[in-house]
Amino acid sequence: MRLNKYIAQAGVCSRRKADELTAAGNVKINGAVTREFGYDVKDSDVVEVNGRRINAVHKQVYLALNKPCGFITSAGDERGRPTVMELVGDVPERIFPVGRLDYNTSGLLIMTNDGSLSQRLSHPKHGVYKTYRAKVAGVLSDERAAKLRKGVDIGGFVTSPAIVHVIKQAERTTLVEIKIREGKNRQVRKMFSAVGNKVVDLERVAIGEIYLGHLKEGHYRKLTKQEVDYLKEL
Ligand code: URA
Repeated sequence: MRLNKYIAQAGVCSRRKADELTAAGNVKINGAVTREFGYDVKDSDVVEVNGRRINAVHKQVYLALNKPCGFITSAGDERGRPTVMELVGDVPERIFPVGRLDYNTSGLLIMTNDGSLSQRLSHPKHGVYKTYRAKVAGVLSDERAAKLRKGVDIGGFVTSPAIVHVIKQAERTTLVEIKIREGKNRQVRKMFSAVGNKVVDLERVAIGEIYLGHLKEGHYRKLTKQEVDYLKEL
């Protein structure tokens, strides 16, 4: 395997960065510095980067992050806004978010370096239920809740059946739990707008059987083996 690919697969950095490290003399093969980008790593080779032995049999990492509002779900932002990557900065592997949450949505985001799991989970055909808690303005009448359950037009797209429960009616707002299987852009916000209730706060509390629980905002935890197995079987 080509040296830069080997280093990237070990979760150290990107291939481009691997070439930079190689050029800077930070990579050793069998104890000797190499600057040969195209070196073909053999099974018996010992590869060190910055003095640490690495192994391309790369460790798969699965995390649940409680994303706070005010962070974008991508690796970089041209407007310089904080990204979720900053919240997992101490994780050595190169992980990325599965799907996305709006800048102003908080809650459960799964992050992993398992590209195939990520692709499968993001595919619409999997249709795992995602559970949101939405605080909406005004009263969500029974009639409006029934419309949400049945499906509403959110601008050229009619949503599939949703599971909707009113949790708490306050004076000016209603707390609603809504479960949907699709993931159109700003779908939950658009669904409530379609029935006349503006979303004031939105939090994702579960993805299938993976729950946010008491994880604090801005914190992450490793998924348990059972949770990872569950996701792989979806
Ligand atoms: N629906 C939304 O409107 N926003 C999200 O972030 C997720 C689902």
